[in-house]
Amino acid sequence: MKKILVIGASGQIGTDLTVELRKQFGAENVIASDIKNACEDVMQGGSFEILDVMDRKKISEIIDKYNITEIYHLAAILSGNAEKNPKWAWDINMDSLFNILELSREKKIQKIFWPSSMGAFGISTPAVNTPQLTIMEPSTVYGISKLAGERWCEYYHHKYGLDIRSLRYPGLISWKTEAGGGTTDYAVEIFYEAIRSGNYECFLSEDIALPMMYMDDAVKATIMLMEAPAEKIKVRSSYNLGGISFTPKEIENEIKKYIPELKVSYKPDFRQAIAESWPRSISDEAAQKDWGWKHEYGLPKMVQVMIENIGKRKC
Ligand SMILES: NC(=O)c1ccc[n+]([C@@H]2O[C@H](COP(=O)([O-])OP(=O)(O)OC[C@H]3O[C@@H](n4cnc5c(N)ncnc54)[C@H](O)[C@@H]3O)[C@@H](O)[C@H]2O)c1
Repeated sequence: MKKILVIGASGQIGTDLTVELRKQFGAENVIASDIKNACEDVMQGGSFEILDVMDRKKISEIIDKYNITEIYHLAAILSGNAEKNPKWAWDINMDSLFNILELSREKKIQKIFWPSSMGAFGISTPAVNTPQLTIMEPSTVYGISKLAGERWCEYYHHKYGLDIRSLRYPGLISWKTEAGGGTTDYAVEIFYEAIRSGNYECFLSEDIALPMMYMDDAVKATIMLMEAPAEKIKVRSSYNLGGISFTPKEIENEIKKYIPELKVSYKPDFRQAIAESWPRSISDEAAQKDWGWKHEYGLPKMVQVMIENIGKRKC
C-alpha cells in the first residue's frame, strides 16, 4: 500500500502536487506537511501535519505514525530569498536533504522525490537548449545547494540503492498560491498585479528569456517520473525539464490580449544577475526518451488558463 508524505505541501508546488496525488492515490494515502498551514484545498483534503524538515525526530515519528512508503521533499529556500541569507539557506537546503536521505535509508522508504532546478546551471553552461550533461558552475547559493544535492542523490542511489528521483524544474507558473521567493516569480506576480491594480513593476529586464512551465505540466512530470519503472530511470542526479521559454515582454504582450490596460515597467534588481546566469532554454530530450515526457502548455494556453483561474485563488 502506497503511503505518501509531502514535505513543503503549503508551497507553490506542494499545493498543486498534494491535490493531484490525493486524486490519483486516494486522500487517505497522502499526508501533507509544512511548517505553516496550507490553503483550504490541502488542509481539508486529507491529513495535514505541522512538520519542520530540520527536525529529524519528528519526521521519523510521522513516517512511523502513517507507515510512509514514499516521500516528496519540496521544502527549500528559493533563489531570491537564499541570496539574502546564504549560510541559512545552505543549511536548510542541505541538512533537510540529509535528514530525508538518512531516514529513508534507515526506514527503507521505497521512493523519494527531491527537486533540483535550472538554478544548478551557471554562466559557463551553454545557455540555449541546455543539454542534460553539461558544464555546471552555479554562482548562487541556491544553485550550489541544488547541484550538491543532485550529487548526493546519485551517491545514495549508487551506494545504498535508494530509489530517489529528481527533476530540474524550470520557473513554475501557477494560480493556487503565490510564488515562493524565486527569480522567476515575476511570471506569477504579473498576473496578480494585472488583476489587482493593472500595474506591474518587473524586477527583470524585458528581454531576458527564461525556461518556464505551467504547474499542471510540472505536476504531471513529477508523478510520471515517480511512477515510471525503476529501470527506465537512467539519470539518478536530476532530469532536465524544458517546457516553454519566454521573456517578460512576451508574457506582458500575451496578458494584454485579455487585459489591454495593463501597464508594466521594468526595474531589474539583484535577481537580474541570477537570471543571466541561468539557461535561456533547456533540452529535456533525456526525459522524453527515458520515460516518455512531453509538455502540453505553450505560452498562449498557459496565459489563458491563468487568467481564467487566478480569481479563484483560496489562499
Ligand atoms: N517554483 C519554482 O519555480 C521552482 C523551480 C525550480 C525548483 N523548485 C524547487 O521546488 C521545491 C518547491 O518549491 P516551491 O516553489 O513550491 O517553493 P515554496 O517556497 O513555494 O514552498 C516551499 C515550502 O516549504 C516550506 N518550508 C520551508 N522551510 C521548511 C521547513 N524547515 N520545514 C518544512 N517546510 C518548510 C515553506 O513553508 C513552503 O510552504 C523547492 O525545492 C524548489 O527549490 C521550484
